[in-house]
Amino acid sequence: RDGHGLVIAVDGTSGSGKSSTSRGVAERLGLRYLDTGAMFRAMTWWLLCEGVDVRDAGAVAAVADRPAIESGTDPRDPTITVDGVDVSVEIRSDEVTSAVSPVSVVPEVRARLLGLQRDVIGDGGIVVEGRDIGSVVWPQAEVKVYLSADPDARAQRRAAEQGATDLASTQQSLLERDRIDSGRATAPLTMAEGAVHVDSTHLTLAEVIDQIVALAPGTRGA
Ligand code: DC
Repeated sequence: RDGHGLVIAVDGTSGSGKSSTSRGVAERLGLRYLDTGAMFRAMTWWLLCEGVDVRDAGAVAAVADRPAIESGTDPRDPTITVDGVDVSVEIRSDEVTSAVSPVSVVPEVRARLLGLQRDVIGDGGIVVEGRDIGSVVWPQAEVKVYLSADPDARAQRRAAEQGATDLASTQQSLLERDRIDSGRATAPLTMAEGAVHVDSTHLTLAEVIDQIVALAPGTRGA
């Protein structure tokens, strides 16, 4: 199957199932995979380590070009390093999760990561997940998906993933991130022009993957 050149953009809210879905689609189609959220998280992790006040946009902007951030693109084993150190686990901490939305508001952060993201996409053959892939990073993507799910379903999935028991607070933190991600001035989360809306609330992971695979040119859903 020739996936060369193909770019599949998967955007959507926190907890809509973007990562599992995107990795599954990449595996099925033999494509690479890029998690752009992990790049924003890696930047945030580095800022916290450096003691930068993440609520101070000027301070964040001043150092946004410093950390070397590299993403592995194997959908079976996605990795991310900062200055050569693998931070795949660290970037999922609560500290990073609550600081990442304010960091991703900063235009200098977005500009820096946008360049890195386009470098990784290169000649394509990749599934890219994020918030602004179909709108800003790669508007020419052959397939654009906007993945959503009801807040209840998203909170339940997140809580299950993290072994958390407080559904209400999980849901509150998801909604707070949605609010910041959708409301920011630079590259907010929106449904990109030409995007296909997939609501995963009542679908299994396999069903969502099937729907997206079926959108890829030349695959006839196979
Ligand atoms: O997908 P995620 O939850 O790992 O993303 C973490 C944060 O990164 C998210 O709250 C907003 C930001 N983000 C972004 O602004 N643009 C992207 N393309 C991907 C993520």
